[in-house]
Amino acid sequence: MKGSKAALAELLLPVAPEMERMRAILSAQILESSPAVSDMTDHVARFQGKQLRGALVLLTGEATGNTTDEHAAVAAIVELIHLATLVHDDILDGAEVRRRVACVNQRWDNQIAVLLGDFLYARAFALSTQLSSRLCSRLLADTTRTLCVGEIEQSTRRFDFEMSLADYEKIAGQKTASLYSAACELGARYPGGNQELGARMAEAGRCLGLAFQIVDDCLDLTAREEELGKTVGTDVEDGKVTLPVLHAYRASGEHARAAIRDAYTQPDVPDRRAALFAVCDVSAGVAEAEARARALVDSALEILATLPPSDASRSMEGLFQFVLSRNQ
Ligand code: IPE
Ligand code: IPE
Ligand code: MG
Ligand code: MG
Repeated sequence: MKGSKAALAELLLPVAPEMERMRAILSAQILESSPAVSDMTDHVARFQGKQLRGALVLLTGEATGNTTDEHAAVAAIVELIHLATLVHDDILDGAEVRRRVACVNQRWDNQIAVLLGDFLYARAFALSTQLSSRLCSRLLADTTRTLCVGEIEQSTRRFDFEMSLADYEKIAGQKTASLYSAACELGARYPGGNQELGARMAEAGRCLGLAFQIVDDCLDLTAREEELGKTVGTDVEDGKVTLPVLHAYRASGEHARAAIRDAYTQPDVPDRRAALFAVCDVSAGVAEAEARARALVDSALEILATLPPSDASRSMEGLFQFVLSRNQ
C-alpha cells in the first residue's frame, strides 16, 4: 500500500473537500464546446494524475493557516500548467503511454499535442486573471518560463556524460522543482501574505520537487510500464543522462564508460535501457541517486518542522515520504 495511490488518497484526507473543489474547477476549465477539441480534452480530463502539486497548494495553505476561498482555483491552475507541460513533454520524449493511456501525441499526433498543450496553458492563465490577486499569474508565468528554460537546457545536454551533478540539479530544479516550489509558495502566501513564510515554503517545495525528479529518473530505469503507468526507458532512448546514470558512469572504468556511451548512441539497439544494465552497475547508481533524494526530502522535512503541528502538516510530512516510496 505504501507508495500507492490509495495511500496517497488517505494522506490527503484533511484537504479532501478542497481537492474535490479543485477537481471540479479543473474539469470545468478543460471543457470546450468544439467537438474536435472536446474529444481531446475528454481524453486528458478522464485520466487524473496524482495531483501532488495541487494538493501541495491546499496543504501548505492549511498548514500555514493561510487558506482562502481562492486556494482551490490556485491549485487547479497549478495542475493545468502541470498537465500542459506533460502533453508537451511527451512530444519531446516521444513517449507513448501517460497515466495508463495513450499520450496525446500517440492517440492523435505531435501537431495536435502542441496545440492542446497551448490550449491548456491558455486556460490556466485565463483563470489566473480572474483571481483577486495578481500573485498567482505573476509567480506562475515566471515558473512556466523557468520550466521551459529547463526543458530547453536539458535537450542541449543530451549525451553529455561529463555533466556535473550541479548542472543536473540545476536543470531538474528548473524543469520540475520550480512548479513544486511555486505550489508551496502560493499555498503559504496567496493572495499576498507573509513573504518570509512564502520563501521558506518555496524552498521546501524546491527540495521536494528535486527529490521527485531524481526518483522519477530512477523509476525510468527500474520500473515497469504497467506499474508506473507511463512509458519507461525513455531517458536512455532520448539521450538524457540522468543522476543515476551519471553516478554509474563515474563509477565505471574506461572500457565500461565506452560501453555506456554505446548503449546510448549505437544505431539499432532494440532496448537501450537493457543494454545499459548489461554494461554497468545501474543499481549502484540508482542507490546513490536515491540517497540524494532522501537527503533532499530530509531538508524539506526540516523546513516543515518549523510550522506548528497540525493535521495538514502531518499530511505534508506523509506526502514528502510518499515522493520517496512512490511506484507510480
Ligand atoms: C510527472 O509528474 C512529470 C515529472 C515532473 C517527472 P507526475 O508523476 O506528478 O505526473 P501525474 O500528474 O501524477 O501524472
Ligand atoms: C519532465 O521530466 C518534467 C516536466 C517538466 C514535464 P520527465 O520527462 O522525466 O517526465 P516524465 O517521466 O515524462 O513524466
Ligand atoms: Mg518525459
Ligand atoms: Mg521521467
